[in-house]
Amino acid sequence: MSCLNSNPGRNLTDPRSSVGPVGGSFIARQPAMKSFGNDPPYRQVASIDEVFERQHDGPAAGQSDGRIFEFGAFSEGKVSLVGAGPGDPELLTLKAHRLIREADAIVYDYLVRPAIFKAARPNAERIFVGKKGGGFCCPQRDIEGTLIRLAREGKKVVRLKGGDPFIFGRGGEEAEALAAAGIPFEIVPGVTSALAAAAYAGVPLTHREHASAVVFLTGHEDPNKPDAAIHWEDYGCLGATLCVYMGMKNLETITRRLQAGGLPPETPAAVIQSATTNEHRQLVSTVDRIALESEHAGFGAPAIVVIGAVAALSGKLAWFESAVATGAGELASRPSL
Ligand SMILES: C[S@@+](CC[C@H](N)C(=O)[O-])C[C@H]1O[C@@H](n2cnc3c(N)ncnc32)[C@H](O)[C@@H]1O
Repeated sequence: MSCLNSNPGRNLTDPRSSVGPVGGSFIARQPAMKSFGNDPPYRQVASIDEVFERQHDGPAAGQSDGRIFEFGAFSEGKVSLVGAGPGDPELLTLKAHRLIREADAIVYDYLVRPAIFKAARPNAERIFVGKKGGGFCCPQRDIEGTLIRLAREGKKVVRLKGGDPFIFGRGGEEAEALAAAGIPFEIVPGVTSALAAAAYAGVPLTHREHASAVVFLTGHEDPNKPDAAIHWEDYGCLGATLCVYMGMKNLETITRRLQAGGLPPETPAAVIQSATTNEHRQLVSTVDRIALESEHAGFGAPAIVVIGAVAALSGKLAWFESAVATGAGELASRPSL
């Protein structure tokens, strides 16, 4: 599947194409039956560079001449930034399900599981803009440009993101771009993967006897970067349950720095991979061993790391992993993932 081109057969440089990205920017073209006459039935309303500048207080690197046009027979669409949850389609909200059913276009990330699309209309446009395995597919500003373009074509657009759009999902930036471009939008929260992974692994993130606070952190950033946003040592003495997203690559450094900040090495820690799906796996260990053990056991993204006393409760509360192993219980009746 190609990025930003839901119709691989379409010639993106052909002026008869309806709409398409050209040279990394977006140009809305006239429909095939209308000619480029003296009085074109469209007008330019903003360039994606202008929208980007308004949003980020400065010009984009590598300015393009991409323009966004508004057609004469224009009827305004809307963008719904929708959380698809962690994978299990039954964790979609009713509102997300309705919006997917009604959408003209669905712009989605790679963590959105195929079963989620069962609700979509067969002729709904599907545009993949995902990242996979840390690789980068679509520049963020192109994604924002696509949302703006589709809405200006009068479409009901669902921007579907894994988990919740506002938790490490860049939903904030997309909402800002839509606001700057004057596009109507709404935000539909989803079940974020830390909550889902913990629930399906039998780890209560708070517990009267063990933890009164929860922190969501991204482990994506290189922890050794001098200007890194997260000072991991500070979280080693917080006494909260730590939920680390995107932390597998840097887990050894993260756990070492937490211990340097005062976190006892015997603190329980869990890694939960592909939570809520048929590939769900989990491993419980201690903070001084979790990086090594999860590496040896072949754990990798997408995974959530939960660090704190509550992780040990998985020993008696785990309920989902065995259902995955046997294909029984809750899994037997669920739509396939
Ligand atoms: C870019 S972040 C997106 C987070 C998403 N917006 C959310 O609210 O869950 C991607 C990371 O979310 C976590 N993640 C997403 N789905 C997951 C799942 N089913 N199981 C475990 N972790 C998951 C992993 O840490 C993954 O690297």
